[in-house]
Amino acid sequence: MQGLSVVFLVALVSLSSTTAQTTLSVPFRRSFKLSPNSSTLALELPAHNNAYSLTIAVCGAVLPLPRFFVSNGTSVLPGPSGAPGSQGGQELNLDQGLIDYHTLTPDGGTLAIWPSTGARANWTLDVAVSETGPVHQRMSQLPLLGDTSSSRAILFSPPFLPPNFTEPKYPNYTFQPAIPNIPSPPSVPPAPNTSLLLFPTANANETVWLTNSACALASKLGGTLATTATRTILRDSDGWRTQWFIDGLSPSTNYTAYVIEDGAKVSGPSYLLTKSGSFPCPLVHSLPYCPMVSYPVPLPAPPNGATSYTDSNLPQSVRDAVVSSLSNFTSSLKTFACGRDWYSPLQTCTGCQAAYRKWVCSIVFPRCGEPIPDDALGVPASTLTTQLAFNDPNANQPPADPLPQAALSPRAADAPPRSPFLPSINAAYNELLPCIETCQAVDRSCPPLLKWKCPVVGVNANVSYGLGFIDSWDGTMEKGGKPGVPQDEFGRIWCNA
Ligand SMILES: *[C@@H]1O[C@H](CO)[C@@H](O)[C@H](O)[C@H]1NC(C)=O
Ligand SMILES: *[C@@H]1O[C@H](CO)[C@@H](O)[C@H](O)[C@H]1NC(C)=O
Ligand SMILES: *[C@@H]1O[C@H](CO)[C@@H](O)[C@H](O)[C@H]1NC(C)=O
Ligand SMILES: *[C@@H]1O[C@H](CO)[C@@H](O)[C@H](O)[C@H]1NC(C)=O
Ligand SMILES: *[C@@H]1O[C@H](CO)[C@@H](O)[C@H](O)[C@H]1NC(C)=O
Ligand SMILES: *[C@@H]1O[C@H](CO)[C@@H](O)[C@H](O)[C@H]1NC(C)=O
Ligand SMILES: *[C@@H]1O[C@H](CO)[C@@H](O)[C@H](O)[C@H]1NC(C)=O
Ligand SMILES: *[C@@H]1O[C@H](CO)[C@@H](O)[C@H](O)[C@H]1NC(C)=O
Ligand SMILES: *[C@@H]1O[C@H](CO)[C@@H](O)[C@H](O)[C@H]1NC(C)=O
Ligand SMILES: *[C@@H]1O[C@H](CO)[C@@H](O)[C@H](O)[C@H]1NC(C)=O
Repeated sequence: MQGLSVVFLVALVSLSSTTAQTTLSVPFRRSFKLSPNSSTLALELPAHNNAYSLTIAVCGAVLPLPRFFVSNGTSVLPGPSGAPGSQGGQELNLDQGLIDYHTLTPDGGTLAIWPSTGARANWTLDVAVSETGPVHQRMSQLPLLGDTSSSRAILFSPPFLPPNFTEPKYPNYTFQPAIPNIPSPPSVPPAPNTSLLLFPTANANETVWLTNSACALASKLGGTLATTATRTILRDSDGWRTQWFIDGLSPSTNYTAYVIEDGAKVSGPSYLLTKSGSFPCPLVHSLPYCPMVSYPVPLPAPPNGATSYTDSNLPQSVRDAVVSSLSNFTSSLKTFACGRDWYSPLQTCTGCQAAYRKWVCSIVFPRCGEPIPDDALGVPASTLTTQLAFNDPNANQPPADPLPQAALSPRAADAPPRSPFLPSINAAYNELLPCIETCQAVDRSCPPLLKWKCPVVGVNANVSYGLGFIDSWDGTMEKGGKPGVPQDEFGRIWCNA
């Protein structure tokens, strides 16, 4: 509710003549308080020649909720039929705490908010008008889980502001250096002001149902839970994301995450499951040369009581291994005619370098994992329907078989380190194998003369890679694997992508 003036409205509406107390403009945003004891609140809609979105968020479950009516007239008070002073109009219904109304009122109109009797507190309403899409909305993109340890988690907001990238051209074909030049993050605005709401899923009881309303979520759940090391990062080409590092979570607990942008847009829920109390691997994140690494890695506890590894406390030898390997690869890539004779109309040297970067990072930084709990491997009915419709239009019976278990490979405490670049941790753990698509992406996007080879499916590929999770097992059907993604919004992680 930052920056919004709160207006206490005085009852001015008489039975026969209506005086609109506030005129909404385009754009407009303000928070109103309404008492159950006051009379109807009438707001004048703008006389505006373009279509606009009127959005109203109810900021708390004060029941019964008020009712909302609109009309195209400025001299009538729209409202429930039979109510004194009411003259028709259209009722706008709340959907999980939010009204999203797209309209055109060249001659103006009236928005009337009718208090409901019986409420024990005042309502707070966040009202906005915008020509450029609804201010308040439930976004379709979800918060993204990096990964968890037993008491910590890394989460990302949905992407915003995609980066501007221009493919370099021959003869001046410049590659990203091994440690890329990362542009400075966009300021707020244009970047949204994001906040994270995280709470144990078990606490999401009947009080948490106004989930389309950012202000209701924020007030009900009491804001963020112990967030530190928040930064804005360019994780991939989707765009900038806010990254949160959260400490102080309980082991083996399912958490629910919502992200709120500018106090108005809601994204979520995504779920995440913390690892068990004996999980030995610390989280590694915020490495400029490996932007996708935001997961637990088999390393000893970070030095000096740090809660995680970042570029600043990672052993220099590990960093050198990545940088040297990327530099060597880029040098050989440079011998190809990048930007001139394309070896494929769809692929570029930049894409090849990016695919290799992702692969080499997944090899230098193996990922620790834990089995997905059996009861989380059942398929929710809604997912099933879409999956079936996609795979087999004729099937209408849900298949009985559950989702597969994660691609885990047990590593004994006395085994040599999985990555030759990492020190030993002297603890047993399960490695979450890289998805084979990470290897195949290098094969697909790099010049054939590089002679890249991924292990062959059916021979021993499943010893070092997760197979059949993203693409079908034999690689013939893109996204045809089970479940078709490396991880999902329910906190299940199948392979390291
Ligand atoms: C107001 O007028 C617009 C445009 O004529 C129309 O689309 C809309 O349905 C009207 N709204 C009401 C509440 O009558
Ligand atoms: C409404 O008025 C009644 C009686 O005057 C009072 O007891 C009650 O607290 C008021 N409600 C609110 C929300 O102010
Ligand atoms: C509701 O708002 C009115 C002013 O409009 C105020 O007098 C009253 O105390 C408020 N009631 C509650 C329960 O906050
Ligand atoms: C990309 O370029 C456009 C136009 O130059 C600019 O408005 C936009 O902010 C840029 N985006 C980023 C993420 O820098
Ligand atoms: C090549 O491109 C880089 C960055 O794109 C630029 O800084 C440099 O001046 C260019 N060199 C030539 C010779 O055009
Ligand atoms: C973002 O929102 C928070 C909480 O609403 C506020 O404290 C902070 O000042 C805002 N930051 C910016 C840059 O607007
Ligand atoms: C509902 O959730 C709140 C916190 O969000 C918690 O304090 C309360 O105990 C929960 N109630 C039930 C019945 O679970
Ligand atoms: C990169 O090339 C140098 C020189 O050929 C070699 O010494 C080094 O081992 C290579 N690095 C990797 C990671 O292969
Ligand atoms: C976490 O809870 C959600 C909601 O109950 C559920 O759908 C999901 O499967 C759970 N995740 C795990 C990994 O148990
Ligand atoms: C790998 O695949 C082979 C044959 O396809 C199978 O016998 C073996 O059990 C699999 N290993 C693992 C670890 O899944």
